[in-house]
Amino acid sequence: MPAIYKRTLVTSALPYANGPLHIGHLAGCYLPSDIYVRYKRSKGEDILFICGSDEHGAAIPIRAKIEGTTPKEIVDKYHKMMGDSFKEFGISFDVYSRTSNQIHHQTASDFFKTLYDKGSFTEETTEQYYDEEAKQFLSDRYIIGTCPNCANPNAYGDQCEKCGSTLNATDLINPKSTLSGSKPVLKLTKNWFLPLDKLQPKIQAYLNEHKDWKANVTGQCKSWLDNGDGLQPRAMTRDLDWGVPVPVKGAEGKVLYVWFDAPIGYISATKELRPTDWELYWKNKDTRLIHFIGKDNIVFHCIIFPAMLMEHGDYILADNVPANEFLNLEGNKISTSKNWAVWLHEYLIDFKDKQDVLRYMLCANAPETKDNDFTWADFQTKNNSELVAILGNFVNRTLVLTHKYYHGSVPSAETFTKEDLLTLEQLASFPDKIVASIEAFRFREALAEMMNLARLGNKYLADTEPWKLIKTDEVRVKTIMNIALQITCNLAIVCEPFLPFTSAKLLNMLNMPVLKWHAAKQTSNMAAGHQINKDELLFAKIEDEEIKIQIDKLELSKKNNTVIVVPPAKAETSFDDFSKMDIRTGTILEAERVPKTDKLLKLKIDVGIDTRTVVSGIAEWYKPEDIIGQKVSVLVNLAPRKIKGIESQGMILMASNAEGELSFMNSTKPDFNNGSEIK
Ligand code: MF3
Ligand code: ZN
Repeated sequence: MPAIYKRTLVTSALPYANGPLHIGHLAGCYLPSDIYVRYKRSKGEDILFICGSDEHGAAIPIRAKIEGTTPKEIVDKYHKMMGDSFKEFGISFDVYSRTSNQIHHQTASDFFKTLYDKGSFTEETTEQYYDEEAKQFLSDRYIIGTCPNCANPNAYGDQCEKCGSTLNATDLINPKSTLSGSKPVLKLTKNWFLPLDKLQPKIQAYLNEHKDWKANVTGQCKSWLDNGDGLQPRAMTRDLDWGVPVPVKGAEGKVLYVWFDAPIGYISATKELRPTDWELYWKNKDTRLIHFIGKDNIVFHCIIFPAMLMEHGDYILADNVPANEFLNLEGNKISTSKNWAVWLHEYLIDFKDKQDVLRYMLCANAPETKDNDFTWADFQTKNNSELVAILGNFVNRTLVLTHKYYHGSVPSAETFTKEDLLTLEQLASFPDKIVASIEAFRFREALAEMMNLARLGNKYLADTEPWKLIKTDEVRVKTIMNIALQITCNLAIVCEPFLPFTSAKLLNMLNMPVLKWHAAKQTSNMAAGHQINKDELLFAKIEDEEIKIQIDKLELSKKNNTVIVVPPAKAETSFDDFSKMDIRTGTILEAERVPKTDKLLKLKIDVGIDTRTVVSGIAEWYKPEDIIGQKVSVLVNLAPRKIKGIESQGMILMASNAEGELSFMNSTKPDFNNGSEIK
């Protein structure tokens, strides 16, 4: 990063408009970017904060199908819902746009055309998967199969969510259409590819200039570039009818690849926000561009989008891409389809006005360097033992005493003791400490520093004990309370990026205007004689019952997701056919493994009529020594078969569950003799 930038452009990944937002979204990129931007604004810097809904891509029509509606209705519904959630949680975008806007279609289309005219793309007719039932080409989310890298059987055509690798649909093993479930066929189609292989040296050079990026980001980029043959050409168009039409002849019925159009959405949204001077933010070398994203977006923001921008030539490239890892929930991966999530809109119903509690929790637990876990128990502890017991407690004691001793008028500081001076010196040092952490994108550390300021306040009150001293030394207490109020006021300033609602409430109680960041380096923001307002509690304790409700909700999701697959009913059969089968009760007398097999046991069974040998595939589930004496049902008139050289004279009847586990069928009374007929 050059020493001095004149302005900053912050983007936060455009979320897909195909579902509501959950805590993973907030923790991944929206909360850190919001903290960053709020702090920069407080410093008075020129900064724009850009976001919007990503309304294209295969995921949207698929969602529409699930909900039985149209893609348009899906994006309208979720665009509104996501926008509302962001607002409710204080995510302070300067613009929240959407990629279905005309301005975006135009911008993305023009961008493609520019690259096309420059000859940046290679035109290739390749075999792509096609669903003959749905009459559609399959890529991205329309196709699943086994990941060639980690063998996850549910990898998508664009990405394996298990190992994080980016895929092409044709990389999948055993591909299956998600539209019809059918096995796709290969069919020729023309697409336009960005030759990332040829661009690799330029991309490598760009990444080399940014050795200061977070280790998780650099690590992923490196594995992309160093992996096997390095970068591969990637199709920038799709055979799909939902998206931005490809603006060239011969591309009818094709749209831009969603990862081509979506990042251009950052540019379109900036144009929408600043129609006259948007170029300053995108084309001027004095602008610092920062992309906040989650880890599944790294390759697109660090390799593909920069490659597109380089090819275009007019634009600046990101100076940093502070990506977070994933947040898990109670030990499991957050999953929309399994309803394993804490939805933002639901949180607000259960925890009204507690946006800052969630912001605090998610920042304190942010998955900055590795995946992290959200637990409700931890949420309760963070609220009760930190927000209530440290920050709330300090503010409350200070304000209550100010009202009690001085009817809410700020007392004057008289003479400072050595202890006072030390406290004031420490107070003034906090903003810089917090800044250093925020600038390094270490938000957890920054938040911890902010809380340390509240701790300083608590320690100061505990050491000076104004509530005792008031009986003997009123003058001294004035100074103590003045200092406690200065700490409170500075807390209101430095907590704003993290806890904006709390900050506003606190400033209101203090009857103070919004103060800029630099004011927090002062130790006399509150003048003697200034009248403060009535105090309210900043944070309330969260009770065990409230937490239990949340845990129960998750338990329910877990239960609802344990799907039991029962095979469909077979075709009808006649009574005559059924009665041809001779099924008898029997007892296993001997059992031994069939050599050189994993599954087979050789059994000797007394079936009443005789004692016979049956070879049975139950060795995975039963040990020979455990089943001697086991009552079984045996189909005794099945024609004998040779299995591994042994003649099997019948078949024991077993129940088989969805996992393929086998269990004996023996619900006869124990004293039923062998050879009893089952009919
Ligand atoms: N919609 C993508 C996701 O949720 C992110 C798109 S970011 C952008 O993973 F750069 F493409 F806009
Ligand atoms: Zn994988």
